[in-house]
Amino acid sequence: MSKQTTAIPQSQLEAQFAYCDRIAARWHSQGVSPAAYVETYGCQQNEADSEKLRGYLVQCGYTIVSQAEGADVVVVNTCAIRDHAEQRVFGNLGALTHTKRRHSGQKIFLCGCMAGEPTVTERIRASYPHVDGVFSTHHLWQFPEILYRVLTQGKRQFFVEDEPGSIAEGIPQVRDSRLKAWVSIMYGCNNFCTYCIVPYVRGRERSRRMEDILAECRELIQGGIREITLLGQNVNSYGKDLPEDVDFADLLAAIAQFPGDFLIRFMTSHPRDASEKLFDTMARYPKIAKQLHLPFQSGSSRILKAMNRHYDRETYLKKVAYAKEKMPDLVLTSDVIVGFPGETEEDFRETMSLIQQVRYDSLFTFIFSPRPGTPAAKMEDSTSKEEKNRRFDQLCALQNRISQEIHGDYVGRTLRCLIDGQDGQLLTARTEGGRLVRLSGDPALIGTYRDITITGASTWSMTGAL
Ligand code: SAH
Ligand code: SF4
Ligand code: F3S
Repeated sequence: MSKQTTAIPQSQLEAQFAYCDRIAARWHSQGVSPAAYVETYGCQQNEADSEKLRGYLVQCGYTIVSQAEGADVVVVNTCAIRDHAEQRVFGNLGALTHTKRRHSGQKIFLCGCMAGEPTVTERIRASYPHVDGVFSTHHLWQFPEILYRVLTQGKRQFFVEDEPGSIAEGIPQVRDSRLKAWVSIMYGCNNFCTYCIVPYVRGRERSRRMEDILAECRELIQGGIREITLLGQNVNSYGKDLPEDVDFADLLAAIAQFPGDFLIRFMTSHPRDASEKLFDTMARYPKIAKQLHLPFQSGSSRILKAMNRHYDRETYLKKVAYAKEKMPDLVLTSDVIVGFPGETEEDFRETMSLIQQVRYDSLFTFIFSPRPGTPAAKMEDSTSKEEKNRRFDQLCALQNRISQEIHGDYVGRTLRCLIDGQDGQLLTARTEGGRLVRLSGDPALIGTYRDITITGASTWSMTGAL
């Protein structure tokens, strides 16, 4: 891999800030205080990107609002991971014709992972004329320029050229929460799992410089952030493209030594690159949450090979055993795909038995969705939809039972939790493992870590008392 990551030069970012100033001045001269709405689909990576879009919009003079109706700018930040996700976006894009009719100055933008698919951008060009601008994740840093062009040139803008990808530091961010923050540590993916569209729409893997990440984390912690989640499609390969000799465990250890009352989480870990060093580091530092999201995708080594996952059932189980040995309280979650092309009943049984063996706290379960342009979309798939649904239901039933049992075991235990919000009359809190607890208490406690005794449990959440 090349040891060179393309950074966007500071001068080019300054040029974007100049566009922000021009847009703000334009609104000011019209005596208008404009509003903007950002709608986010997909994973935490997109949530983090939306915080940057909002950061830019605020710098352009916009107030961020929570609905498209009446907004001067609407940005739809999309996800392409499964067909269902895309259909939802197209449906909602259609509905925006009405908000635009009621507010003729409304400018509509589509960005995110779908904007990296040529078939999607063609469809927007041809059939969604009310969309004023489309830009892929590679061009997010140019959003002020795109917005300025739409406002001043009266022409639709498409910034969708594919590229390996770059890193832009210093884009302003408006964060969703004052207690929890996402920090992207790397972008893109090199793994090309055969079912997955991410490498095609987000480009090659590239790591931010460690000093930039550390500076951001330090600032967040000093500003009162209690939980930092480090983000990347495969955080365990952090640093491979950097000139320095650093890896993800080094990065974790460096953040974990900052002073302050906070926890570090991270996602996602690819099992291939999850090392003993990583688990040792997690075990060693109290500020690293004992929580691991380690997607296995399938329990069948044959299917894992067809998925191009670069590990087999045995290596996966060995890694999990090592992690559990080092961290007896580890909360383990995972992703699994049912109905990959060629998955037989026997392969499926292996997935079920792996789940029984590992006993995850919870699982994100997916039915295989062919993504155009990926190798798996061309693989022969003779299993019927009904059969896939049957397997899916069986798997969910198994996992629900396990989640409930694991939650049940928490009853009576006292855990240190971050009280993070309110849900009606109750407070909400998160355990170190990320489990949701509801309890009664004084809202003044929000933002503090407290010992909470678990009094009850269901499949999805728990109740507790201070
Ligand atoms: N980088 C992460 C995954 C990101 S996508 C990792 O490798 O672990 C999140 C999850 O979506 C994947 O783990 C996978 O389970 C699911 N997924 C991705 N592509 C899919 C597809 N084509 N059909 C069904 N599920 C898919
Ligand atoms: Fe997709 Fe695989 Fe990359 Fe995850 S590691 S984003 S599943 S290609
Ligand atoms: Fe979706 Fe893109 Fe994330 S495809 S899951 S938003 S990386």
